[in-house]
Amino acid sequence: MEITLKNVKKRYHQKTVLDIPDFHFFPGKIYGIIGPNGAGKSTLLKVIARLEELSEGEIFYQQQPFRKEILKTMTYLTQKPFLFSASVVENISYPLKFRKYKRDEIRFLVEKIISEFGIEHLAHQLATKLSGGEAQRVALARALIFKPQILLLDEPTSNMDPNSIEIIEKIILKYNHKKGKTILFITHNVAQAKRICDEVIYLENGIIVESGKAKDVIASPKSENLRRFLSLEYYVN
Ligand SMILES: Nc1ncnc2c1ncn2[C@@H]1O[C@H](COP(=O)(O)OP(=O)(O)O)[C@@H](O)[C@H]1O
Ligand SMILES: [Mg+2]
Repeated sequence: MEITLKNVKKRYHQKTVLDIPDFHFFPGKIYGIIGPNGAGKSTLLKVIARLEELSEGEIFYQQQPFRKEILKTMTYLTQKPFLFSASVVENISYPLKFRKYKRDEIRFLVEKIISEFGIEHLAHQLATKLSGGEAQRVALARALIFKPQILLLDEPTSNMDPNSIEIIEKIILKYNHKKGKTILFITHNVAQAKRICDEVIYLENGIIVESGKAKDVIASPKSENLRRFLSLEYYVN
């Protein structure tokens, strides 16, 4: 699903934290959103997910103004995912129960995704007792099981070990190849952005300073700020 931002502004207490005059996110692509802390990355995903209201401007979904039905085809995965106090299987089943899938179908789909994510060993554990990285994996499985058109991921692999990161990156890439999905992915890891994103957006003070093909933006940044940001990232990762 295409997402269009027109004159989008978000302010908190008179301070503008997001200011995007015109931007299009196209289906079938993975967009990596990078930038320093406080740049407005999470706010961008939250306004698209309608978790925060815009102060000005409008966001269109497939060229249409927002309608409630859009929420059913969109998911926003927060940095610290919320899982409820029940087993991992119960958590992952929830979006399907909510959508009134049949019991057999739920069992089939949940088993399939649990094996795809390599989390068989967690299936019957209490979700609230999982480690940060395990919880992120379960939350992503729960987010993907109902096949949303728009996937908004806020640093989804930040607490994961390298092995889990590899699994998740493969899953996201595969998911993207299913027609028409739009994926926005906030990451602190520039190497990761290069690995999985088609396009990269560099945000600073709520403004898109640079955007374009991931390889181009990362290999030859135009602005001095992005150049500095990338060289610092090099030392962090
Ligand atoms: N609910 C809020 N109330 C007030 N200020 C907020 C709120 N959420 C975010 N901000 C501010 O908006 C700016 C952008 O935040 P955020 O989008 O979380 O940045 P990022 O995800 O890039 O680190 C920051 O200065 C942050 O302090
Ligand atoms: Mg953030």
